[in-house]
Amino acid sequence: MTEYARRISKKISRLSQDQVERLIESITEENDTLCSIIESLNTGLLICDAEWNLIQTNKAASKLLPLNIRDSESWLENPEPVWNLINDEDVGAFIQKTSSRQEVYGEAEFTLESSGGTQKIIQVNIQPLMQEKKFAGIIIKVYDVTEKRNQEVLFHRMENLARLTNLAASVAHEIKNPLGSISIHIQLVQKAVAAARKKDNVMPDEKFIEKHLDVVNEEIERLNKTIVDFLFAVRPVSATLESANVNQLLADYAEFITPELEKEGMVMKTAFAEVVPNVMIDPKLFKQVFINLAQNAIAAMKKGDSLTAETEVKGDMLLVKIRDTGKGMDAETAARVFEPYFTTKMTGTGLGLTMVYKIIQEFNGSIEVKSYIGEGTEFTISLPIPQKERHLISAK
Ligand SMILES: Nc1ncnc2c1ncn2[C@@H]1O[C@H](COP(=O)(O)OP(=O)(O)OP(=O)(O)O)[C@@H](O)[C@H]1O
Ligand SMILES: [Mg+2]
Repeated sequence: MTEYARRISKKISRLSQDQVERLIESITEENDTLCSIIESLNTGLLICDAEWNLIQTNKAASKLLPLNIRDSESWLENPEPVWNLINDEDVGAFIQKTSSRQEVYGEAEFTLESSGGTQKIIQVNIQPLMQEKKFAGIIIKVYDVTEKRNQEVLFHRMENLARLTNLAASVAHEIKNPLGSISIHIQLVQKAVAAARKKDNVMPDEKFIEKHLDVVNEEIERLNKTIVDFLFAVRPVSATLESANVNQLLADYAEFITPELEKEGMVMKTAFAEVVPNVMIDPKLFKQVFINLAQNAIAAMKKGDSLTAETEVKGDMLLVKIRDTGKGMDAETAARVFEPYFTTKMTGTGLGLTMVYKIIQEFNGSIEVKSYIGEGTEFTISLPIPQKERHLISAK
């Protein structure tokens, strides 16, 4: 209310008719201004009273949400909870669920199909409306985040392309050496043949030729392996994500790997968070991740060392930590472990952790490594906790 209206409305019984008229005019004017501001916003607004009955909306709200409001009079006269007026089951259910919670804060994203068949991603944000520090109702804001999310997908694709370019560069590097070596050995044979022709036409010794051909064969085999491994590394991992309990899975995998550790006199330990929300992963691929990390750990550990699988809930992320007390790595090595073909082992492909990295990306998660020489190595996988699981956590 304007200062004028506030001041004068306190002495309403003493006002002349003229003054009352001016007061009403001023309030109406102010109300009109506020309404036109609300109408002009790009953000959809649904304002409810303390009982969640819809009392005001704006144009953007009806553009973004399928609202079931025909003429403005009827829903104002017969108040209805806002979720009854939204023609989308998921959005309605989300608002209704938020209303039953003690704290009426909530945020979620929904994909809606428009009548034209295009998809739209909207973000719904619910907040209490406070007036003079008192709970006066609820304000529901609706944003169109389609463009933002599409940009993110595009960015993700570009990132993938950049990674592929790097990968191609390392393959080119891997291919160059054996090709160079093949070329040298063939040239040596050719030179020997040419020299023989010029001289006495006695061809070089069979052994001499065989030796060079053997090297050529070995190098071709190496090339073949590089290509096969490359195809393995670039092959898209097709993850089938399902809601899974990571504690349960890790307990299974730990049991699976224990004999391999025990054989070497090493110990498997677990340290799980008591309650973990389910996350969206592909259990088969997650097992591959665990086995890869465990095998690297085994290679880095000695008798008496231990491997620990730990879980922890941190904000809206579920952390999975795989820690070993092995020989560790220096910072330079640790920075390169996810690079394709990076290996310090005689017979390693250097693709194990590349695959791990790719799989975790498919789960919309991330992986990091911390390592200290002589102390050990810790891989931390962060997996996003789905929105619906987040409510479970905060409601607890
Ligand atoms: N837990 C660990 N402790 C110490 N070093 C590690 C650990 N995990 C990975 N590394 C280092 O990272 C390198 C790359 O690992 P990655 O799993 O990608 O390939 P690899 O193990 O060498 O080969 P492959 O997985 O094909 O057997 C390893 O060669 C090793 O030097
Ligand atoms: Mg490995």
